[in-house]
Amino acid sequence: MHESDVLHRLSKRQVEAGDPGAVYLVGTGPGDPGLLTLRAAQLMNTADVVLYDRLVSPDILQLIHGGAMMVYVGKQKGFHTRTQDEIHGLLCRFAHAGATVLRLKGGDPYIFGRGGEEAQYLRERGIDVHCVPGITAASGISAELGIPLTHRGLATSVRFLTGHARESGEDALDATVAASADRDTTLVIYMGLGTLPSLVAQLMRAGLPRDTPAAAVERGTTPQQRVVYARLQDLERRVAEAGLRSPTLIMIGEVVALAPGWWLAEGCGLSEGACRAVERVVA
Ligand SMILES: C[S@@+](CC[C@H](N)C(=O)[O-])C[C@H]1O[C@@H](n2cnc3c(N)ncnc32)[C@H](O)[C@@H]1O
Repeated sequence: MHESDVLHRLSKRQVEAGDPGAVYLVGTGPGDPGLLTLRAAQLMNTADVVLYDRLVSPDILQLIHGGAMMVYVGKQKGFHTRTQDEIHGLLCRFAHAGATVLRLKGGDPYIFGRGGEEAQYLRERGIDVHCVPGITAASGISAELGIPLTHRGLATSVRFLTGHARESGEDALDATVAASADRDTTLVIYMGLGTLPSLVAQLMRAGLPRDTPAAAVERGTTPQQRVVYARLQDLERRVAEAGLRSPTLIMIGEVVALAPGWWLAEGCGLSEGACRAVERVVA
C-alpha cells in the first residue's frame, strides 16, 4: 500500500476514534530474535506502521503482524534510501494521522542509533514518543562470543566508540581514539570497519600494546555471523583477508582472550596479560 493511502485511511480512523498517534523508538538488538524484549514483541503485534532500518534482521521483520504497513528507511554508505530529515517527516506525518508508529532500530535506539534526534524532533512537535531499549551490539555480541567486557582483574571499564568521523571530524575522532588507549579499558568500536587502519595505528601509537587481543564480528548473533580474532597489530590484515563487511563490531582488550573462540583461532598465542588472567581464573 502507498504511504498516501495509509495516511488517508489513518486520518479517517483518527476522525472516527479521536485517537492521537504515538511513535515508539524500538531497539531490536543485534539480530537474533531471541534478544528482543517482550515490549518490542508486543508492539510488533499491534503497530499500524513500521519504519525499519537496514540493521533490523529479516528474522525479526517476519514477526511483525501482517496488517502493518512496512516502510524501509535504511541507510547504507553511499546509498541513502531516505535522508534523516525525510525520516523525521514521515514519523511526524504518520503520528499526526493517528497511527501507532514503530521506528525499529538495530541494537539500542540511543546507542549510535540517532534515536535521540528523532525523539527530540517529534517531542518539539508535540508528538508522544516512547523509547523501548534494545540489546546493543556490544552486549549481544560479547555474550554470544563469551567475552565478559568488564572481567574483574582485566578491565575496570568499557568504552563504546564510533569509528565514523561524520559528525566529529577526523581530528576529533583521532583524539578520542588516542585517549582511549588504556590497557584496563575494553574498547568496543561501532562503525569502525572503514577507518580500521587508522584506528589501530592511533591506538598503538598512543601506547596500547601491539599484542592486545581483538575481535571483529560481522553480523553478530545472526546465522551469518563471522568472527576474526587477532592481535591488534594483525587485526587490519586479518579482517581484510577475511573480507569482513558492514555491519562489523570491533572489540579490543585483554578480555577478548577469554572467549572460547580465541583459543581455537589459528595462530593466536596468548598475550602476557591474558596468560596472567587465565592463570588467575584457573587458580
Ligand atoms: C549505526 S550503528 C547502530 C548501533 C546500534 N544502535 C546498537 O546499539 O547496536 C551501526 C553499527 O553497529 C554495529 N552493529 C550493529 N549490529 C551489529 C551486528 N549484528 N553485528 C556486528 N556489528 C553490529 C556495527 O559496528 C555497525 O556498523
